[in-house]
Amino acid sequence: MPPLIPPVIAPGSLSNAPQPVMTAGPDLLLRPWSPADAPMIVDAFRDPATRLWHGRSVDTIAEAEELIQRYIRGWRTESSASWALTTTAGEVLGRVALRGIDLEWGIAEVAYWMRAAARGRGAAPAGVLALSQWAFGVGVHRLLLNHSTRNTASCRVAEKAGFALEGISRSAVPHADGWHDMHAHALISPL
Ligand SMILES: CC(C)(COP(=O)(O)OP(=O)(O)OC[C@H]1O[C@@H](n2cnc3c(N)ncnc32)[C@H](O)[C@@H]1OP(=O)(O)O)[C@@H](O)C(=O)NCCC(=O)NCCS
Repeated sequence: MPPLIPPVIAPGSLSNAPQPVMTAGPDLLLRPWSPADAPMIVDAFRDPATRLWHGRSVDTIAEAEELIQRYIRGWRTESSASWALTTTAGEVLGRVALRGIDLEWGIAEVAYWMRAAARGRGAAPAGVLALSQWAFGVGVHRLLLNHSTRNTASCRVAEKAGFALEGISRSAVPHADGWHDMHAHALISPL
């Protein structure tokens, strides 16, 4: 079936270039993951909150290395894009990512977690803002941000990064303690 509407983002727009390094504030960087980050990911997933909101664990270096390979494949296949959020001195604070990238419609969903010791200093919203600006620059039209209605910290990230609350998806995502309603936020490209 021939398309009547051209893709919002041309295929290859992401993967034809190396995944970029970006600044996310005076002391923050977004950079691609490296296999050497595996121990930090294992450490991050020891935190019960990280496990609770992601419904999975990463217990071993081998599992973390596999996850990093998945992040790298995501860029190559233009299906996801995942960055380590670090200080300019190199300390890894957490992860900020786009998943479910849909080039045809120019849509993607923002995802993130911060290491327990790095929380409460505004790093996640700064990372999400920088990532959003980059995404709009490459042609994304609409960014989704979904979180459990019980995850008040994540809701604050959405609010601080300017993602408007559009509604509640009822009983939408399974968690360890059952199905959660999800807040559906979104940010539209100003371009
Ligand atoms: C949600 C999360 C990414 C926020 O990251 P962050 O860099 O701490 O974001 P902020 O510093 O802007 O803080 C956001 C809110 O977290 C809460 N918070 C503040 N300090 C905190 C701390 N030390 N530990 C936990 N939560 C804290 C506050 O409610 C804060 O809102 P406020 O600024 O209005 O007080 C982080 O708490 C996290 O990784 N949680 C576990 C994983 C997760 O929930 N991922 C998102 C799934 S949708």
